[in-house]
Amino acid sequence: MTQTILILPGDGIGPEITAEAEKVLTALRRQHGFDASWSHGLIGGAAFDATGEPLPAATLTAAKAADAVLLAAVGGPKYDTLPRPQRPERGLLAIRAGMGLYANLRPALLYPELAQASSLKPELVADLDILIVRELTGGIYFGQPRGIREEHGQRVGYNTEVYSESEIERIARSAFEAARLRGKRLCSVDKANVLESSELWRETVIRVGAEYSDVALTHQYVDNAAMQLVRAPKQFDVIVTSNLFGDILSDIAAQLTGSIGMLPSASLNERRQGLYEPIHGSAPDIAGKGVANPLAMILSLAMMLRYSLQRADLALKVETAVRHVLADGLRTGDIARAGEATVGTPAMGDAVVAALA
Ligand code: IPM
Ligand code: MG
Repeated sequence: MTQTILILPGDGIGPEITAEAEKVLTALRRQHGFDASWSHGLIGGAAFDATGEPLPAATLTAAKAADAVLLAAVGGPKYDTLPRPQRPERGLLAIRAGMGLYANLRPALLYPELAQASSLKPELVADLDILIVRELTGGIYFGQPRGIREEHGQRVGYNTEVYSESEIERIARSAFEAARLRGKRLCSVDKANVLESSELWRETVIRVGAEYSDVALTHQYVDNAAMQLVRAPKQFDVIVTSNLFGDILSDIAAQLTGSIGMLPSASLNERRQGLYEPIHGSAPDIAGKGVANPLAMILSLAMMLRYSLQRADLALKVETAVRHVLADGLRTGDIARAGEATVGTPAMGDAVVAALA
């Protein structure tokens, strides 16, 4: 059966990098028996410009009907002064909630060719390969009540960190399953010394853990985990944590690799339908210049092949092609060393396509 993909280029460098991902899709279809068709939709500032909303109903409908969604990035300075409900970020949060994408997998993998890009000593990060499993549809990002109210003559802003047992259970399972396929070590990160929501988080993760006796479970408080990530990151295999803590820790983990332009992510729902996006943002400062690194987008496509389209064989092909172009010395500006020659976005995409053949 033909698999269907919805492509959401979004804003900034989005259209440039999705164009390269499409070259890869076309090559897979032509040369490697990949039976898929794809269409495009609007999200973020691009959607706001066209329809007045950051997530038009048509986009969410198409996303729910697709086997997988490939998203580049949203946002830009032009939209920063819009009222909150119309901002591009709201489109991203709404598609996560609308598709029920509660499990966000953010791998941080250090490519040996790019080891010098890390701000940590090479021996601390050599062969780094960690996976952050971030809860994505709950916690303080979505908790009620929230708002800004008047109180005793001044404004008070408030949000609610809230997790139900079932929400914790399902993300814990995603993390244990992921750990099973990797180094079989899971570290759950919380703030159980202060927060009741974290107390329940820890209790629930321990209870679910009884079903995964082959996975070694540990716990860290989030402040310590942040420190451990920059002190000795290789102690981690898989980390599972809440929406807000995962947002912060995944940026730290990305910086450990020194090349945020290389990191993909997957967000999955109960049907294992997924949305795949690079970790980096829309990079408005370099948008339209043809210099953005398309590799995180292309690696997101590889994750899509593996997790939603059951084509691990093709995922591996794409990942191997990316390693080839790095080994051949191709570098976009973000991953080049001072004085190293750089290539633009289309040349990098073409090189990956050539390496696939
Ligand atoms: C991320 C981003 C988003 C988040 C923003 C853009 C809403 O930082 O995907 O990590 O906070 O989840
Ligand atoms: Mg973030």
